[in-house]
Amino acid sequence: MNRRIFCLMMTFVIMFTSFIPFVEADSTLYASDGRTINVNSEDIELWKNVGWFETAEDAKIITMYSMDGRTLDIPQYYRDAYNKVGWYNTREEVVTTMYSMDGRSLEVYKDLGEAYRNVGWYYNLSDVTEKMYDSKGNEYTVFKDNIEAERKKGLSTNKNDVMQIMFSADGRFLYVPYEDVEAYNKVGWYTGGTKLDPTRPMVALTFDDGPGKYTSKILSILEQYNVRATFFVQGKNVSGYKQVLKRAVDMDCEIGNHTWSHVNLSGSSSATISQQISSTNSAIYAATGKYPTLYRPPYGAYNKSVLNSISMAAIMWSVDTLDWKTRNPQKTLASVKKDAVDGSIILLHDIHSPTADAVESVVRHLLMQGYQLVTVSELIEARQGAVVSGKVYTNVKP
Ligand code: NI
Repeated sequence: MNRRIFCLMMTFVIMFTSFIPFVEADSTLYASDGRTINVNSEDIELWKNVGWFETAEDAKIITMYSMDGRTLDIPQYYRDAYNKVGWYNTREEVVTTMYSMDGRSLEVYKDLGEAYRNVGWYYNLSDVTEKMYDSKGNEYTVFKDNIEAERKKGLSTNKNDVMQIMFSADGRFLYVPYEDVEAYNKVGWYTGGTKLDPTRPMVALTFDDGPGKYTSKILSILEQYNVRATFFVQGKNVSGYKQVLKRAVDMDCEIGNHTWSHVNLSGSSSATISQQISSTNSAIYAATGKYPTLYRPPYGAYNKSVLNSISMAAIMWSVDTLDWKTRNPQKTLASVKKDAVDGSIILLHDIHSPTADAVESVVRHLLMQGYQLVTVSELIEARQGAVVSGKVYTNVKP
């Protein structure tokens, strides 16, 4: 080869090799321990297979968390893959705070939550605390284990125990510290139905078949709302609940006669009728010091001879809540909402727990609608004058 051709070839070789850096530029790869390396672009995949990454972000070590409390340090590059098989990016995602009744709290891995539940820990602060109130109406959040101690210091879990609910003529209500009741009275707020106003609508709640173990609870609600009701009692139940009946009378509630043992009067002899009614009257007198003037025939069953032989007024009802049948406080309330009007006599039974559970909502509803809650005798007297013996009252229209 002559010199000239050799020079030309060498020129090509130099041109070609000097061109290589532009074609096969070095790439920088990153290791998780902070090292970097420059490699040929075409080798990147090879390097990646042995633990190098294309960006510093990918190489960064992050901690992943599992629900059962394990942790794992991995390059960030693998995060998505680990997410897919049950690992989480943050500790917050795998732990939950649990609470005990005595005020402790604990971070628990979620997989262990149920085990902690079984030994008395709870997921929600509201499960281990209760709201308590002082007589000024201030609200406190108290751990359940401390409730008794706080009660001794004068707090109550029931707002009704430490405050008086008061109503305005336009249907608003609020809880007022007892010491402020008088001041609210002066500006037109009232506590239930203390003073009977014949010009305002009124209804009579009646409770049959007791007294029983829920009667006291019902009385406490009536007392709190400062309202009255009538209890048609079975004579045979009275001796076990003398104090309860006395309390009812002291609260100006009315006690009526519902026979000694719930007999169907319309199918009874006059001797039986007389015995059922008079023995019950005596029992009521013995417990309360008052003879009843009203009776309610069991099953609503009466006839002429029943009316003639009992020298009291027979009280039926105009709103049948069917509480004895539905045993559902919401349904009992719904029935009252639907059917109660001015002058209604509302039938309930104080021997059923769901009825006792319904009473507060029933009372509140009626008060909010502007009704006064009065005894049956008060209702009759306010609207029709003196109660008439031998007469049947189903409702007392204005
Ligand atoms: Ni009955």
